[in-house]
Amino acid sequence: MSEQTSMKTSAALARSFKVAPELRTGLVLTLGLAVVGTALQLVVPVVIQQIIDNEILGAGDVNPAAVLKRGGIALLAVLVAMVARFASLRRLVRSSSSGLAQLRIRTFDHLHRLSMLELQAERRGALVARVTSDIETIQHWMEWGGVGMVLGSAQIVLALFLMFIYGWQLALAVTAGVAMYAVMIVVFQRVLSNAHDRVRERVADSLAATGEAISGLSTVRAYGVEEVVMDRVDEKLDDQFKAEVSTAILASSLFSSAELFAGFLTAMVVGIGVVFGPDWGVSAGTLVAFLFLVNLLIEPIQRLVETIDQAQSAGAGLRKILHIVDTEIAIPDPVGGTPLPDRSLRVEFNRVTFRYLEGPDILKNISVLIPAGQRVAIVGETGSGKTTFAKVATRLLVPQIGDVAVGGVPIDEVPFVSLRSHLAYVPQEGFLFDASVAENVRYGRPGVSDDAVKVAFDELGLLGWVESLPGGIDTQVGELGGSLSGGERQLVALVRAWISDPSVLVLDEATSSVDPALEVQIRNAIEHVTQGRTSITVAHRLSTAEASDRVLVFDEGRIVEDGTHTELAALDGVYASMHQDWEGSTRG
Ligand SMILES: Nc1ncnc2c1ncn2[C@@H]1O[C@H](COP(=O)(O)OP(=O)(O)OP(=O)(O)O)[C@@H](O)[C@H]1O
Ligand SMILES: [Mg+2]
Repeated sequence: MSEQTSMKTSAALARSFKVAPELRTGLVLTLGLAVVGTALQLVVPVVIQQIIDNEILGAGDVNPAAVLKRGGIALLAVLVAMVARFASLRRLVRSSSSGLAQLRIRTFDHLHRLSMLELQAERRGALVARVTSDIETIQHWMEWGGVGMVLGSAQIVLALFLMFIYGWQLALAVTAGVAMYAVMIVVFQRVLSNAHDRVRERVADSLAATGEAISGLSTVRAYGVEEVVMDRVDEKLDDQFKAEVSTAILASSLFSSAELFAGFLTAMVVGIGVVFGPDWGVSAGTLVAFLFLVNLLIEPIQRLVETIDQAQSAGAGLRKILHIVDTEIAIPDPVGGTPLPDRSLRVEFNRVTFRYLEGPDILKNISVLIPAGQRVAIVGETGSGKTTFAKVATRLLVPQIGDVAVGGVPIDEVPFVSLRSHLAYVPQEGFLFDASVAENVRYGRPGVSDDAVKVAFDELGLLGWVESLPGGIDTQVGELGGSLSGGERQLVALVRAWISDPSVLVLDEATSSVDPALEVQIRNAIEHVTQGRTSITVAHRLSTAEASDRVLVFDEGRIVEDGTHTELAALDGVYASMHQDWEGSTRG
């Protein structure tokens, strides 16, 4: 268990009040109403005791008017108690809903700012669970269990208080019984808490496994590995099932022990009251009042036991969420900082070394200066660190050693807004949102008109292509752009970058093979977008390298060759042999 997940529930609560102060809004009045609603319930046993002792068993005749008056008081008290409890519940639901909505937004917001490293360390399915089901568990508890706990505790304290006024001996006996029970609960609570942490972990695991199996469906089918994947999912679901069953058994043994305790306590009060009552001065009316009070005591204890179960899951969920909210943002937005100037910018790498979490160095002591306006192509074998280099250049990853500067400004001193508006990154996978082509392009420059989007396609020679789609620029691209091919997704991503008119463009060419016609269109579009612009293009096609001003050859995280296409092709090095292979395959 990590340090955060073992955080005490009280500490977790205090922390969540800080993260979502809305949770605390009007809490004092809410609790006050709850206490009033509870205290008024005690009027009933008191009235009954007085009617029995003063009227029924009293010296004179029964006075109907007095009985009626007392009954009226009891009725009024019960009504007011109901209204107060209802008002309290309503307030609690309201503040917890808005507080948890805030917590959800903040968790999501924070997730967005976490670096890619942290996001990869935690699996995505598990992260989705944080903002959805974990918050729901807390909400459920806040709205149902939470009120019960507050009202219940108040009821227990007040009922005990009244018991002691009526007869301290009998009250003492009841207190001893309750105390024994409390010890039992604390023990159970510990065990349940661990069980719930286990269940939540299993749920996150199976969410991750099922999510992966569904999003990777085509790969699964293509390789005919349905069984392997199903087995894995089955195994996770089975683990979840087992954890849930054993937790449910544990919880239900708690509930039954509460039932048992209720019977025991009632029997004890009657027995002790009848035997010792007369000696202790306990009147018949008082004994009946005691029975009512024991009921008022037992009911919230049962509820408390039930809600402890909920409270444990809510606590586990809360700790997991706080773990995210409290994960330090590794790539912070600099306060103040230096915005980038609006002109063509140079990019400098100065002795940069980068590694993922615990792995080996992926970029090794890289120093390179890319002058403003230069069109650079990066080539190298798969796994040589090209994508990593592109991500470090855009500050999606932060190097452990060395620094990167854009336009002479160290990249970690540039505010995000300025950085994102001057640097565009077209990822290798060409991520698209589940929206139309036009809307996806608009992420590059929010608010531009459909006509401007068409113009952008036209400028890159892609108007014919986009109009050949079933709905033109209004074509829906599907989840993750799934209804377009890899090459087509990259075209849309290219237009998105083009329309944002960045000072520096970092482009990771799609590796997926595309048909020759589309290949030509991609090449021309890249050519146009990078024209006269500082650009770093990870080239998987040597034609792209051929068209650039300069080629950097990567090998195992180092730049091993640096020159123009013509210069490098003439050498007897890595590039020359790549080039020969390529010529052999395309022109041979
Ligand atoms: N998120 C990650 N966590 C750990 N290691 C990673 C991660 N991403 C990449 N690597 C490792 O870093 C190395 C370089 O990866 P990178 O993606 O930069 O290669 P590449 O040159 O872009 O390859 P390709 O031509 O296949 O796109 C690889 O060995 C890879 O296994
Ligand atoms: Mg790559």
